[in-house]
Amino acid sequence: MIRSLLSRLRRAWRPPQWREIEHFDEQWKRRIKGLAYLLDQEKSVLDLGCGRMWLREFLPDGTRYFCCDYVARSPETIVCDFNRNEFPDLRVDVCFVSGCLEYVEDVDWFLGRIAQASDRLILSYCSTELVPGLPGRKSLAWKSHLSHDALLAKAEAAGFQLCARGEDIDGNEMLKFEKPSRQNPTGSQASK
Ligand SMILES: C[S@@+](CC[C@H](N)C(=O)[O-])C[C@H]1O[C@@H](n2cnc3c(N)ncnc32)[C@H](O)[C@@H]1O
Repeated sequence: MIRSLLSRLRRAWRPPQWREIEHFDEQWKRRIKGLAYLLDQEKSVLDLGCGRMWLREFLPDGTRYFCCDYVARSPETIVCDFNRNEFPDLRVDVCFVSGCLEYVEDVDWFLGRIAQASDRLILSYCSTELVPGLPGRKSLAWKSHLSHDALLAKAEAAGFQLCARGEDIDGNEMLKFEKPSRQNPTGSQASK
């Protein structure tokens, strides 16, 4: 009887959605700071899944900051739900994705749109090597469950190659990607 009750409970359990468990933790600034260390004088940054926009604290003066989330976090937020295939219509020097790819259902689509928006990507990711266990991952409302190599393969399919990796922080890989064909290493771009 207990076994059948448990199996019924297991069937009834539905993983939560991000919007149901939404919270922000100042500890994530460690991850953002570590990722920001991978910036290289880019003049415009698009912060995808910007949350409280803590990245702004770590940007050099004069950097143009664009932020995007599924709800307006500030008057300047570009509102897009990545799980409805919505994405900002922008070109920037670098896209910045901190603690967000885990919540994206269609990673191939998302990386493809990033590649249209920029030649560079700075990304944190809790790979399945660093955070194993599907039930635990799903209970955090995560939608993507990729190994390090699977993530790299998807980035490569979108046109990116890994060009730098920082120290892992709090279970996050800290990665920077670039298009191999990038012609203008110091040039700045940002346009609507
Ligand atoms: C764990 S928080 C990280 C916030 C911030 N980037 C940071 O590092 O502090 C995940 C962020 O992704 C956003 N997000 C989750 N699902 C999203 C979706 N489907 N479309 C757009 N943004 C989403 C959340 O609203 C939230 O701001």
